[in-house]
Amino acid sequence: MDTHLFEENPFLHEVARRLLKAREQGQLLLQNGDSGFASAPSNIALLKYWGKKNGLRQIPVNSSLSLSLGNFRSVTCVSVRGRFFPLKNGHPDNTGARPEFTVSLNGRDEVMPAKMEKFLRNILAIYAPDIALHVLSQNNFPTACGVASSASGYAALAGAVADLLNLERFLDEAELALWINEWSRLGSGSATRSSVMANKSTKMSSSVSRFVAWELCENADARAETPPLSRTLECVAHSKFQKLRHCLLVLDSSPKATGSSEGHELAQTSVLQSLRLAQYPRRYTAMLGALAGGDFGKVAETSETDAFEMHAVMATGAVPLQYMSSLTSTALKMFVEERNRNSAEMFWTLDAGPNPHFLFDAEAAYALADVFAKLGLDDRFKNARVLLPCREVPQELIVGLEPLEKLGFRIDSMTSEPMLENCDLLTASQILCR
Ligand code: PMV
Repeated sequence: MDTHLFEENPFLHEVARRLLKAREQGQLLLQNGDSGFASAPSNIALLKYWGKKNGLRQIPVNSSLSLSLGNFRSVTCVSVRGRFFPLKNGHPDNTGARPEFTVSLNGRDEVMPAKMEKFLRNILAIYAPDIALHVLSQNNFPTACGVASSASGYAALAGAVADLLNLERFLDEAELALWINEWSRLGSGSATRSSVMANKSTKMSSSVSRFVAWELCENADARAETPPLSRTLECVAHSKFQKLRHCLLVLDSSPKATGSSEGHELAQTSVLQSLRLAQYPRRYTAMLGALAGGDFGKVAETSETDAFEMHAVMATGAVPLQYMSSLTSTALKMFVEERNRNSAEMFWTLDAGPNPHFLFDAEAAYALADVFAKLGLDDRFKNARVLLPCREVPQELIVGLEPLEKLGFRIDSMTSEPMLENCDLLTASQILCR
């Protein structure tokens, strides 16, 4: 167990103290077969976090802001598969076998990734070090396509563990939300923005777009004994943005060569990083203002500039990281040309990968369809796919969630969303009716 983690985090420390007491009083006993469940959406950052503060655990160097991708979700179930260490005087007897953690990701039994195992061992260390746990997690979007599955995955996992431990009994609503939020952040930075919308429903979220900021608390209340270093909050968005649509152009679905953890470490080795960070508070405030004020042009421009800058930082570190491919550049060029020609309200963004995300107002669907039609005429894009979240999910599209159903969960509106074959077939009405 990583004891520093609790020492550094007064909130998690206090909750741990309270739960240990509950456990001593026999209120926190887990048994074989107990399970917990949660679902969380992915998100796409319009202002990106890239780089973490040295010496602090999962604290970003800059505030970030994302659109919640309510219809791209992870659903996760954790279930106890037996207790291993007999407790001696309340402490595990470490002479026994190590409790096993197993995982099934998207319908396949896998070796649990080291990062996930560490996360679970830390989260359970105090309350239930002696249980074997099975994690069943399913995304309703294809993996390695550019939709961040670690964001939705860790938020859903933290939510599922909270459900397993029955934390509702010991924490009030705000504390429970903060607990899920903190653990999500420790799992994966961007998951902290997804955790705000983690819940126990498998339903797609409402069609209203929601924005979440992960903010550095540099001006934290100095009177507070231990001010938080960062916090997550839902942003006020003008009605103009309530129907902001999203789709993804999948140009390459192979796993990326350098993961974000390594990328975050390299960020500080780029000479451009300090320039980026110097103007970041201003950019963050401008973005919040543009979002609240309904200034589509400003949101679009700020988001595109930010993505470009993050990729410039990536490309100029000690180990240059080039996530954009030549196809990405061509697609973005065509997108911007078409957008400008039509004065359409749409913009792009790009995470640590080659697949651009397009965000658009419903009225811009026609211009976006033109972009796809043009790409479809270009042979280099013959393997490109477009991924659009369904708004209404036909029952027959629900696949791959049987394991959860067997565990008694009602699966209402989840789908493994099929990618649309050949982007030249995508018309504005297809874009609109999904
Ligand atoms: O959540 P992480 O630690 O995997 O990092 C995600 C980083 C970006 O997706 C590139 C940007 C962001 O803010 O989501």
